[in-house]
Amino acid sequence: MGMLDGKVAIVTGAGNGVGRGEAVLLAAHGAKVVVNDLGGSVAGEGGGDTRVAEEVVEVIRSRGGEAVANFDDVSDFAGAANIIRTALDTYGRLDVLVNNAGILRDRMMFSMTPEDFDAVVKVHLYGTWNTMHHASVYWRNESKAGRRPSASVVNTVSSAGLQGQASQINYGAAKAGIAAMTIIASLELARYGVRVNAIGPGGFTRMVAQAMRDIEVRNPEDYETFNPMNPMNSAPAVVWLASDESKPVTGQVLRMVGNSLCVYQPWQMGEEFFATDREGNPTQWDPADVGRILGRYHFRTMNPGIDAQRRA
Ligand SMILES: NC(=O)c1ccc[n+]([C@@H]2O[C@H](COP(=O)([O-])OP(=O)(O)OC[C@H]3O[C@@H](n4cnc5c(N)ncnc54)[C@H](O)[C@@H]3O)[C@@H](O)[C@H]2O)c1
Repeated sequence: MGMLDGKVAIVTGAGNGVGRGEAVLLAAHGAKVVVNDLGGSVAGEGGGDTRVAEEVVEVIRSRGGEAVANFDDVSDFAGAANIIRTALDTYGRLDVLVNNAGILRDRMMFSMTPEDFDAVVKVHLYGTWNTMHHASVYWRNESKAGRRPSASVVNTVSSAGLQGQASQINYGAAKAGIAAMTIIASLELARYGVRVNAIGPGGFTRMVAQAMRDIEVRNPEDYETFNPMNPMNSAPAVVWLASDESKPVTGQVLRMVGNSLCVYQPWQMGEEFFATDREGNPTQWDPADVGRILGRYHFRTMNPGIDAQRRA
């Protein structure tokens, strides 16, 4: 018995790297998998190389699993609908949606073009919303028809968005947006039996090879022994989030890299200060008091961000 027997999963951008590892491991645990990939470059140029997704389907089938390829572009609203339709037409249902497809166009913001900003936001942020939208229409209809789903969405974030990374303002903004959408979607879909979580993955992929020279990029399923930079190391978290064993878990962002696992803490309100007049009655803030109070009790420096970076 696999953890995902009877489930149908979609993994977007599953032709390479992290998504490829996820598709192979989901199938190994019993899921039937739609392997989506439009077969483009790391920068999101080109496309149409159908072998990228087909090769992963062959790997899954050669290991006794079930998979079908899809070549649509997640950043296209109609294309995203077709990805969902592929699961329904081929396997008759959809239980798991893994939004993993991604591209990079790193530049400092003063050198970044509107096209570079747009292309990255389109694939990551719109791509995630596009597929979630179409899948949520299906799951809501299922629920209303009395077939309450036990469904799972797993989105993909990055430390670039949650902790910040210079030269990735487009990518980081999209990834932080995906973390926010994950929480909001978890609130919207809970009543229909759908949970929505996210994973921060890692590993040496062709995307990482752009920024780091001399790294070895191999297909994630080709490692026989544990390698801390194998992108497939992130897949066990996705299998668990996809399974019914994670039923009570929604709105969470996990990070699984190498052999490390943790849960991101979301934005929270910090210590709260109140402006009062001499008699202790509520009053409006004086701008001069903002720095005085925060500098004294909170930041202990006037440049907290820069100072924090220097300490790191
Ligand atoms: N590798 C890491 O260390 C790391 C770290 C944090 C987050 N991530 C995230 O993990 C995900 C996968 O990254 P990766 O490193 O495996 O990159 P990758 O380039 O190896 O794989 C990404 C895949 O997505 C596909 N793709 C791109 N645009 C698409 C589109 N519009 N529609 C369908 N498919 C599309 C590509 O063809 C490619 O096969 C991304 O969301 C990335 O931001 C990766």
